[in-house]
Amino acid sequence: MLNPKNIRQLSKILGSDRLKENVSLASHTTFGIGGPAQLFYEAKTSKELIRVIKAARQVKIPYFILGGGSNILVADQGFAGLVIRVKIRKLKIKSSKIIAEAGIPLAKVVKAAQEHALSGLECCIGIPGTIGGAIVGNAGAKNQWINQCIKSVTILDESCKIVSLKKDNCQFGYRTSCFRDNPLKIVLKAIFELKKENPRIIKEKTKQSLEVRGDQPKEKSAGSIFKNPANDSAGRLIDAAGLKGKKVGEAQISPQHANFIINLGRAKAKDVLTLIRLAQNEVKEKFGVELELEIKLIGFKRKEIENIIN
Ligand code: EPU
Repeated sequence: MLNPKNIRQLSKILGSDRLKENVSLASHTTFGIGGPAQLFYEAKTSKELIRVIKAARQVKIPYFILGGGSNILVADQGFAGLVIRVKIRKLKIKSSKIIAEAGIPLAKVVKAAQEHALSGLECCIGIPGTIGGAIVGNAGAKNQWINQCIKSVTILDESCKIVSLKKDNCQFGYRTSCFRDNPLKIVLKAIFELKKENPRIIKEKTKQSLEVRGDQPKEKSAGSIFKNPANDSAGRLIDAAGLKGKKVGEAQISPQHANFIINLGRAKAKDVLTLIRLAQNEVKEKFGVELELEIKLIGFKRKEIENIIN
């Protein structure tokens, strides 16, 4: 629990009407799972976002940046800190460039590109979440990822300076970037360099991307739970281990795609953790492969997750 003195200090800086207490995170995640954030703040402009981050650092309150909530599992006890929901949503199109703030849903940027006959973002069709989350986790499909059309990313760095990083300095890789495990580098916006293209061709590429994605489970989930191991599929391995459809409480390894855990109604985070542990153990035992998490775990005690490969 946070020190009440620190909460008062933060509230003074941000305004007591804007800093909320005890906000359920379940409704802010696509999983629909998780307890409350002790503190919750919605940043609607980049100025507000910078101010809240500076304030949290100054007052030394742990914080977590929340985008679309599509790639996280929040603990049942919630998060004993400040959740900063990024709702900065300015979008500009300048000839073949799109400049998008971190809080815009990825789907909106994909649509804007299509409408302006700009090609490059077709691989992101159908992916939930925000631009910020997509950049942090380098979202994409099989072999095409969002980083391929990024020109630069503007961040708030460790010393609260606004810095623009060229694509090559962002350390993009499969489902990762230099922002992924670094809460001190906050994505503010990105510039996408796209290519003018015949709308018919964009439509065709989009259709192909949707086909590659295939049908994914429609139930509440956090997308793929694990990263794919080199030259294999986490879904295939979990399936081959015989775990498809396995249920714990109201959490289930999807009968449709084994790399998805679905929430059948009132699943608890601890049930999901049990399934994660089971999948990691069985796949390790049967095939000697270590499955690494793609989702981020928020608010868990070290003890609760000590035997999970993160
Ligand atoms: N497979 C099974 N059983 C299963 C699931 C899959 O046998 O339960 C087999 C499939 O038949 C196929 C192979 O495993 O032969 C690969 O499966 P799939 O085509 O579904 O792709 P994936 O590797 O599971 C990856 C990404 C998805 C992305 C799709 C399409 C990861 C972890 N997953 O899935 O990304 O949508 O390719 O591009 O990289 C995400 O990251 O959240 C995500 C959904």
